[in-house]
Amino acid sequence: MSEVTDAVMQQLVEAARVARVRAYAPYSRFAVGAALLDEAGRIHAGCNVENAAHPQGMCAEACALAHLVLAGGTRVRAAVVVGVSDQPVTPCGGCRQKLREFADDDTPVWCADLHQVSARYTLGELLPASFGPAHIGAARP
Ligand code: THU
Repeated sequence: MSEVTDAVMQQLVEAARVARVRAYAPYSRFAVGAALLDEAGRIHAGCNVENAAHPQGMCAEACALAHLVLAGGTRVRAAVVVGVSDQPVTPCGGCRQKLREFADDDTPVWCADLHQVSARYTLGELLPASFGPAHIGAARP
C-alpha cells in the first residue's frame, strides 16, 4: 500500500476538526474529533458521543470507524485524532485496539489540536505486540 502523503494527512486533520465541533460531550466537556482514510481514499469522520450512563459513551474514533464500515470501507490507511489539551490527545487504549482491527503496524496515527499537528505515531508504536485477527485464525479483512 502506498504511503499516505502529508497533504492527505492534512485533509484528515481538517475533517477531524470539523467533526469535533459536532461532539456531544456534556459530561466531560472534552470534545474530540477523528478522521480515517480508507483503502479507496475516502475520509470518514467521527466525534465523541457521551451518555448519561457514562460507560455507554462512544469515542470519536469508534464513531469514525462505524462510518467507515457502513460506507463499505475495509481498511484504515491513516487516522487523525483532534482534541484540545496541553498534551497531544492520543487514542485511548480501547480505540487503539479498535483501529488495529482494520490497520497495520505502520499505519500513521496523528494527533492534532486546532492549530497544529502535535504528535505523529504509527499504530505499532501506540499498540506494540498487539492481538489481532490472525491470532484467532481469521483472515485479514
Ligand atoms: N475520547 C475520545 O473520543 N477519544 C479518545 O481516544 C480519548 C477520549 C473521549 C471520550 C470522552 O467522551 C471524552 O473524550 C473524555 O474522556
